[in-house]
Amino acid sequence: MTPTPPSRPVALVTGATGGIGRAICQRLAHTGHDLTICARNAERLAEVADALRRHDVQVRVESADMAVEADVLRVAHAHVAAYHRLDALVLAAGVGTAGPIETVGLRRFDKQVAVNVRAPYTLVHELMPLMRATAAQDARNGAKIIAISSITGVYAEPGLAAYGASKAALGALCRSINVEASDAGVTATAVSPGYVDTDMSAWVHNRIPPEKMITAGDVAELVMSLTRLSAQTVVPELVITRAGDQLYRA
Ligand SMILES: NC(=O)c1ccc[n+]([C@@H]2O[C@H](COP(=O)([O-])OP(=O)(O)OC[C@H]3O[C@@H](n4cnc5c(N)ncnc54)[C@H](OP(=O)(O)O)[C@@H]3O)[C@@H](O)[C@H]2O)c1
Repeated sequence: MTPTPPSRPVALVTGATGGIGRAICQRLAHTGHDLTICARNAERLAEVADALRRHDVQVRVESADMAVEADVLRVAHAHVAAYHRLDALVLAAGVGTAGPIETVGLRRFDKQVAVNVRAPYTLVHELMPLMRATAAQDARNGAKIIAISSITGVYAEPGLAAYGASKAALGALCRSINVEASDAGVTATAVSPGYVDTDMSAWVHNRIPPEKMITAGDVAELVMSLTRLSAQTVVPELVITRAGDQLYRA
C-alpha cells in the first residue's frame, strides 16, 4: 500500500548549520514545516534541531559530507523513507576558496564543484520524483527547489573563478529544472547574493565590515517568499546585492 503523505509541508535543507541555512530553517519551522536537515558537524546539527523542535515540528537529522556521493544519496533516501513529501528543497551547503586562477589547482576546484554543484544535482536527481508527486498533490503551490548560489556565478569577481564557475553551474541547473519540470509544478530559483554576514565571509572583514554585508535574515526572508509563490510563477534567479557604490560586486 502506498503511504499517505503528511498534511504539513516538508522541507530538506543542506548546510543547515551555517549562517544562511540556519536562518532559513528557523523560518521554515516557524511556518510549520517538518524538516530534514544536514551538514557534516553532528553536534551543531543536534543543536539546530533542538531549537527547531521548539516550533513543534518534526526534524530529521542527517550528518553528511556533500563531497561524498554515498552520503548525499543517504540523505535523499532517508528523506523519502521518512516523509513521502517534499515541498521545498533548499540547497545551502557550500564551500569557497579564493585566489587567482593560477594559484587554485584542480583539487580545490574539484572540491567546490563536488559540494556546490555535484551534490545539488544528485539530490535533485534523486528527489525529483517525490517533488513531482508533491506538486501534483498541491497544485496551487507546487514544489520549490531553492539553490543558494552566489553573485559570483552571475558577475565575475577577481579571485573567485572556481567558486564562481561552480555557482554559475548551479544557476544553469535551476534554469534547466524550470524548463523540464515547471509545467508539472516543480520550479527552481538560484538565489545569488553578494557577501552575506556569516562565517564564510569573515575572511573579507578587512575590506568589508560585517555590518555592511547582506544579512542572513534578509536572504532567508526572500527564500520564504519564494516558498509562498504559486506554481504558475517562476523566478529563475534572484540577485541580491549590497548597498553602496559596488552594485553587482560580491
Ligand atoms: N556568506 C556569503 O558571503 C555568501 C555569499 C553568497 C553565497 N553564499 C552561499 O550561501 C551558502 C551558505 O553559506 P553560509 O554563508 O551560510 O556559510 P557557512 O556559515 O560557512 O555555512 C556553510 C554550511 O555548509 C555546510 N557545509 C560546508 N561544507 C560541507 C560539506 N562538505 N558537506 C556538507 N555540508 C557542508 C556547513 O556545515 P558543516 O561544516 O558542518 O558541514 C554549513 O552548514 C553557501 O552555498 C555559500 O556558497 C554565501
